[in-house]
Amino acid sequence: MSKIAIFGLGAIGSLLSKYLLKNKNNQLFFFNRSSKKAIQINFEGKIESYPIELERSNQNSFDWIIVCLKTYHLPVAKAAISQLIKPGTKIAIFRNGLNLSADFLDVLPNQNILETIIDCSVQRQSDASYLQLSIPKIILLDSTLAQTFKQLFADAEIDIQLTNKFKEAQWKKLIESSSLGALQAIHEKPCVIFKDPKILAEYEQLIRESIVVANSDGVSIPAKFAEVLLEKLKSYPDHKGSSMLADKLAGRPIELDAKIGIIVKVGIENGVDMSTLTRILCAVEFAK
Ligand SMILES: NC(=O)c1ccc[n+]([C@@H]2O[C@H](COP(=O)([O-])OP(=O)(O)OC[C@H]3O[C@@H](n4cnc5c(N)ncnc54)[C@H](OP(=O)(O)O)[C@@H]3O)[C@@H](O)[C@H]2O)c1
Repeated sequence: MSKIAIFGLGAIGSLLSKYLLKNKNNQLFFFNRSSKKAIQINFEGKIESYPIELERSNQNSFDWIIVCLKTYHLPVAKAAISQLIKPGTKIAIFRNGLNLSADFLDVLPNQNILETIIDCSVQRQSDASYLQLSIPKIILLDSTLAQTFKQLFADAEIDIQLTNKFKEAQWKKLIESSSLGALQAIHEKPCVIFKDPKILAEYEQLIRESIVVANSDGVSIPAKFAEVLLEKLKSYPDHKGSSMLADKLAGRPIELDAKIGIIVKVGIENGVDMSTLTRILCAVEFAK
């Protein structure tokens, strides 16, 4: 039996819980800031609902803590998460950005921290349920820890891929989500904005500069990745949004430090010339 704490029961915490609950060898414990009595997810018209009780004590010891917070939640949540850590506890971190382990290296050894990439859009609905738009794809750095984590999802319909090019995959996701999200947040509209050739050109320029920054960080992403993303953009419907746009429209903080902010930070550290990235970062900050 694996004892698993889900810390942060929002979109991603609820999604992962839905799949983890299908494995009868898992025992789940839920931690969330606001009160919650159920997880409810609608996927392809099928609504799954699970009654839950939030944990009030931090006395239990867990095999895994799965952290599903926005970047800006962590400073407040860190102390509570740290109290849950006992010898042997492992942490899986689900959030956007780079160098995710850094947040927990003061409380856990590196070999017990699993960085993840998750590809699955999950949107909160007005009735507090979640709309899941696809089967989740999770990418992990191939390791014993990742293989142990994958086993938690035994028999679940979920795509978990182990790769030796994790950092490259992290950068590729970051480049797309940051470029798309930053422009949507500024213009406060979904993908329809890319019909404007000026905005489309800015998107391309953001991608090209971000590729240079990524390569300065030790990965090897070819310049033609820009064409791949521009082609991918054509397949998106006009109404496709992003988490940055959703946060902007809802008046919530935007995860800038995990998106365009981290790209600019790495670029500055490595002396990269990035006029479009810095201009767009300022514009998003100004529009906040
Ligand atoms: N949603 C997506 O489609 C998606 C897709 C890919 C990646 N991501 C990334 O995954 C990460 C998590 O995103 P999300 O969409 O799941 O965020 P979210 O829906 O905002 O969920 C965060 C949850 O954490 C809880 N929380 C915040 N502070 C807490 C604290 N101090 N103690 C306990 N619980 C706390 C929040 O509680 P409340 O109920 O009080 O708000 C909320 O339920 C982000 O980096 C996001 O960008 C999201």
